[in-house]
Amino acid sequence: MKLKLITAGAAAIFLAVALSASAKEVIKINTASTQMVLVTDKDAPVQFYYWGEKIAGDGFADRFYKKRPDSAESCAPQLYPAYGGSMFLTPAMRVTGPDGSLVSELVFDSCLQESAPDGARRTVIVLKDKVQPIEVRVRFDVYEQYDVIAQSAELVNKGRKTLTVHELASSFLPLHSGSYYLSHFGGTWAHERQWEEERLTRGSKIIESKKGVRTTQADSPSFAVSLDAPLQEYSGQVYAGTLAWSGNYRLSFQLDEYGILDIVSGINPFASDIRLDGGKSLETPRMLLSYSPDGMNRISRNFHDWGRRYGLAHGDALRPVVLNSWEGAYFNFDEKTLTDMMDRAAEFGIEMFVLDDGWFGNEFPRNGDNAGLGDWQVNSSKLPRGISYLASYAVSKGLKFGIWIEPEMVNPNSNLAHAHPDWIVGSGNGRENPTMRNQWLLDLTNPKVQDFVVKTFNDVMAMSPDISYIKWDANRHVENIYSPYLPKDRQSHFWYEYTRGLYSVYDRVRAAHPDVQIQLCSSGGGRVDYGAMKYHDEYWASDNTNPVDRLLIQYGDSFFFPVEAAGSHVSASPNHQTGLITPLKFRFDVAMTGRLGMELQPSNLSAEEQDYVKKMVAAYKELRPVIHHGDQYRLISPYDDGGYSAEMFVSKDRCEAVFFAFSMKYHGRTEYLETRFRGLDPEASYIIEEVGGPKRPVVRESGSVLSGDYLMKAGLNINMVRPFDSVVLRLVKVN
Ligand code: GLA
Repeated sequence: MKLKLITAGAAAIFLAVALSASAKEVIKINTASTQMVLVTDKDAPVQFYYWGEKIAGDGFADRFYKKRPDSAESCAPQLYPAYGGSMFLTPAMRVTGPDGSLVSELVFDSCLQESAPDGARRTVIVLKDKVQPIEVRVRFDVYEQYDVIAQSAELVNKGRKTLTVHELASSFLPLHSGSYYLSHFGGTWAHERQWEEERLTRGSKIIESKKGVRTTQADSPSFAVSLDAPLQEYSGQVYAGTLAWSGNYRLSFQLDEYGILDIVSGINPFASDIRLDGGKSLETPRMLLSYSPDGMNRISRNFHDWGRRYGLAHGDALRPVVLNSWEGAYFNFDEKTLTDMMDRAAEFGIEMFVLDDGWFGNEFPRNGDNAGLGDWQVNSSKLPRGISYLASYAVSKGLKFGIWIEPEMVNPNSNLAHAHPDWIVGSGNGRENPTMRNQWLLDLTNPKVQDFVVKTFNDVMAMSPDISYIKWDANRHVENIYSPYLPKDRQSHFWYEYTRGLYSVYDRVRAAHPDVQIQLCSSGGGRVDYGAMKYHDEYWASDNTNPVDRLLIQYGDSFFFPVEAAGSHVSASPNHQTGLITPLKFRFDVAMTGRLGMELQPSNLSAEEQDYVKKMVAAYKELRPVIHHGDQYRLISPYDDGGYSAEMFVSKDRCEAVFFAFSMKYHGRTEYLETRFRGLDPEASYIIEEVGGPKRPVVRESGSVLSGDYLMKAGLNINMVRPFDSVVLRLVKVN
């Protein structure tokens, strides 16, 4: 057989490797240190041979695979199996053909090299059905230096008749090992991204959303699978992925009788059949994948750097420190409430003031969550001089100005709801339309609604040239789906078309306002995925601002998203969501592990607290380049039993680092935190300085100079035993 080698590297290399009679081809998808290997043969399914560390040299041998007991077929894992042929597991594709047949068999047609729209190197494997005029293009976009591969598929109906697409995965990954441990995230409102791990056993584990809109509030379309042992930060083989899609998703983990784990990821097929007319094609979102031979941390750092370059808006910019009005004022404010907050924010050294919910609606004033959504005119009794006055006031104080909108939604108590019932999801189908947080969802499958949402954004931006930040919120998900716009036989397209409508709106908004900073919010962290994030600078991690909970939530976020993308605010104590009382220092130290902001009424702070705020905002600005653009090393997980949490950030040139440690419970007087650093230059010496000052000393070495080697091997012992003790250390290279 002859194996022809195609390396999807900087250039395509074709190499003949003599193995036996038939003309097989080996296709390698290479990143800087990882490799996927696929084997093709004429008119045969493409086999998925390998994904792991890059293998030196060109040699690849045919592999032995068991035969299925009662068939001549081998169980060699396929790249993109369709339902049909010998495939009886959850497939990558399942369609009903124009002839009513449920069966497809995808075989190799060709392999192309091209450039993705963002410049990534793209390898396309073209598959075709043995009988029906169906083509599937499986794409790999390679981000070489980040060790990230984005996999997706496009199905082309090459015939004239309509077919029905039931399932079309973004990626299908067959792994083979002794055992598999799955890390994923669960939660609920104000409790997002809670890390969970389980050993996978025979059968299927499904992670999915069927809710639409707030698709990451409960679960997330992300996974990390470690082989043969629970997930470790710095050791063990780990495969991880996150789906760039803001609609319903399904990740299926199926462990079969051969011990193979098939990970099938993509749009959730539930209630989502797509009628695909002749000549039309259907594209899946991209599944972003990364592999590490030495633990999860490397994968997180891959995604952080990839995200800064490709996954976030303005990923190379330092994010400003924010004061948001929500928890400080809620709906109860007038002009003076806000200008007083701005005065204090400016004194604190804060850089951006964000006016949250409550500023709009006249006939239906937005004085609570039960009225006004959809009527995006400034409330003239609360704010008689309008947004332009407030925005220019902010600028006169040296602050930037931002404002909240929720343009996908409408309250029944609004002019919009009365004028356009046909724009509302669930309206007009003879059933009662349930509200959630007293609101309905606008039907973004309808181009007129898309125009309205774009116009809303444009009109708000036009209220003042001084608006430089928009907080885009979305506070409900979908129930009783029915689109007054979609035809009767295409109602199941709703889930797909809503998300496409949303992306089309984002595209238009971004084309018109490339510089504005946009925060992605959905009742907190209900819509955090790389499909939406590329239009946004940051996300609101949770409506829960309790610092202990934020340690858990932001730990989960940091698996795939860089910390500077997480809006992370110091709020009042007792905390408004949980009632927990914590020291201001602890709240600041936690908030500084993300994009620092504040969300409280500044006039409620004592003079001493206000001085502390000034000191910490100034300190954060100094540490910010390392936190926002450095490498994050998670040192102690807040999910460990020990009751500590620690992490550090190291600048790319290893000249500076910032270390954070937190105590989440009482430890007993004899206990102390023993921690070793990571990522430092072992040859260099660093001066250690405690930031923000403790009430009592906890780190003896503060003020000392120690080598990177010492800090990474011996580490420091920190005297931190009380609940809500915390420490921040700055390390600066001195030689
Ligand atoms: C959501 C957001 C909050 C706040 C409120 C306003 O809950 O997550 O941050 O903006 O809406 O109604």
